[in-house]
Amino acid sequence: MPQISDIGIDLGTSQVLVYARGRGIVLREPAVVAADRTNGKVLAVGAEAYKLVGRTPGNVQAIRPFRQGTISDFEMAKELIHYAVRRVSGRHFLTRPRAIVSLPTGVSETEKRAVISVLFDAGMRKTQLLEKPLAAAIGIGIHFAEPYGSMMIDMGAGASDIAVLSSSDVVVGTCTQIGGDYFDDAIIRYLRKKHNLLIGDRTAEEVKMTLGSAVPPPNELTMDVTGRNLLSGLPRTQSITNLEVYEALKDVISDFIETIQQVLEHTPPQLASDIFEDGIILTGGASQLQGLSDAIYRELRIATGVADDPATAVVVGCGRALEDTPEMRSYLHENSRYRYL
Ligand SMILES: Nc1ncnc2c1ncn2[C@@H]1O[C@H](COP(=O)(O)OP(=O)(O)O)[C@@H](O)[C@H]1O
Ligand SMILES: [Mg+2]
Repeated sequence: MPQISDIGIDLGTSQVLVYARGRGIVLREPAVVAADRTNGKVLAVGAEAYKLVGRTPGNVQAIRPFRQGTISDFEMAKELIHYAVRRVSGRHFLTRPRAIVSLPTGVSETEKRAVISVLFDAGMRKTQLLEKPLAAAIGIGIHFAEPYGSMMIDMGAGASDIAVLSSSDVVVGTCTQIGGDYFDDAIIRYLRKKHNLLIGDRTAEEVKMTLGSAVPPPNELTMDVTGRNLLSGLPRTQSITNLEVYEALKDVISDFIETIQQVLEHTPPQLASDIFEDGIILTGGASQLQGLSDAIYRELRIATGVADDPATAVVVGCGRALEDTPEMRSYLHENSRYRYL
């Protein structure tokens, strides 16, 4: 195992990614820990644990420690962090690396300090935190050290960040739980109500990726979905259309766009006009929902685009922020000056 360089870590609500300086992305696994319910013993972490999601026998519990954008289970978060570092470093460090880490925005200040201490125990010499929207912007090569406004939206599974960046910081921003999981849940609710069909999280996610759309779909597509018929209690396969999935998602999408609008309403006019000129950039896995940027454009009349590699932007940004340049140093501050709405 080669000597590990400094690393960037994106701890997401559904995925954990690690970027090693000079090597690129070296780890990308589900942010899941499987534990024995009876004694709390960890059975598997990452990809192995993900295989158990929704198929676990009674005593095995698959946990996503950051599921809703906060830390729901600190012990499991710790397991996940140790696992990620161990996987990229082997057992030993010759010199202790430095880490830049992006945590979900809902994580409290106390928990942030606890995470830094976990990383110290895992072998890091120094850990600095970088907020998701800043990391995402750095990752896709946006420079925001100048007093010029850019709007970044990072849409994950359990949480999304909407932020206006300027002068190396977030000027105004918010964090919402509307993300990929919300879309999945909306699909589950819709099919239960309309077809008396109960489907699992995994199936819902598959439906979203295959048929999901944030705008009325131009032509009809269908797929067969298997779930449990709530009336008979038996498994049943039902054909569903992309129009139905759009119906299921549209309220959640409009709530999301409303949240973007609120951020814009709190944005200083000069910066808002920069955003009107340059548009909005989306990152995060959930931004890949078909038609999402279109839906935002139709509602707000601001050009909106999805980054080329949206799900890796944050970790790449953490990795780039390790570069010791005045610009990168300006993005790493102890305490952010901005307020979340
Ligand atoms: N092609 C796609 N269409 C719609 N949603 C997608 C697509 N690919 C991934 N997602 C969703 O993206 C979310 C994961 O995004 P990610 O940025 O990895 O999350 P996090 O940063 O919270 O760990 C999941 O809800 C997943 O269903
Ligand atoms: Mg993410």
